[in-house]
Amino acid sequence: MGLLRTPFRQAIAILAVAYALIEFGIPYIPPLFGVASAKIPNTVVLQYLLTVTVGILIWVSDNERRWTEFKKPIHEVLVRPDRKLARGVLLVGVPLLMAFVAYGRALPDMSAPPSFRAIHPAPPSSIPFQGEIIELTGLENPLRSVGSLDEHYEEGKRVYYQNCIACHGDALRGLGHYAPGFNPTPLNFQDVGTIAQLTESFVFWRIAQGGPGLPNEGAPWNSAMPAWENFLTADEIWSVIIFLYEQTGHEPRRWEELEAAEGTEAEGS
Ligand code: HEC
Repeated sequence: MGLLRTPFRQAIAILAVAYALIEFGIPYIPPLFGVASAKIPNTVVLQYLLTVTVGILIWVSDNERRWTEFKKPIHEVLVRPDRKLARGVLLVGVPLLMAFVAYGRALPDMSAPPSFRAIHPAPPSSIPFQGEIIELTGLENPLRSVGSLDEHYEEGKRVYYQNCIACHGDALRGLGHYAPGFNPTPLNFQDVGTIAQLTESFVFWRIAQGGPGLPNEGAPWNSAMPAWENFLTADEIWSVIIFLYEQTGHEPRRWEELEAAEGTEAEGS
């Protein structure tokens, strides 16, 4: 072991092995994300390494000869004329490296926070709508049983093109001109994950009360979806809902299906 013959090199080797063990040897499971392969935090690594360093210093200094030998390479780099280059690298390079690390730490982090936003939070069972209380539970679109579907569709189309297109886009894909400016972005109604999953009364609630009506699970970002009860009548909202489903070809979720699904869930558990 010629390489490890001086106490200084031994100390460096111990430190390196300790670092490798701490960094890669300890399985760490962060409480929040449950990712088993995640590394342990750097501050903890630093604490362990400081402890190891103290141990090493005690070891090299407990014997006079070893201590002198340990100090020798350090002393040489600092004073010997032929070590000028190494000295320069240490005295300039290390502070520069520190400055670089500190600068990196001080840079603001632009990445988005982890998201726990529920896109479809549980709706309230009833909502105030333009001064009345509307029961949402079990409510179906009243326009489906009066007049002609075509008329409601045409009316809904008018409402959509006058009010919704700037955000939800003309293809109903959530790609309107304003869309890139919002987080969360306007939802894509063609996607099977949005209105295809919902009852019409849920959609009514979302249109009538918009972002301001979302419960806390709808956070952390503010939804730009306006509260349309301030601008549209109930019939206009119900007709734009018909337009959304007809245009995308999705079927609204029915209350009977929901009850059936909940029934099987209850049996299963
Ligand atoms: C200023 C931009 C904007 C306008 C205008 C707008 N929306 Fe939205 N809308 C959003 C955003 C952003 C979301 C996604 C965040 C959320 O769910 O609140 C959204 C979500 C929705 C949802 C929820 C869908 C789901 O799967 O939960 C519905 C329904 C909806 N919009 C319908 C409409 C209708 C109908 C109109 C026109 C009357 C309209 N929006 C106009 C921005 C807008």
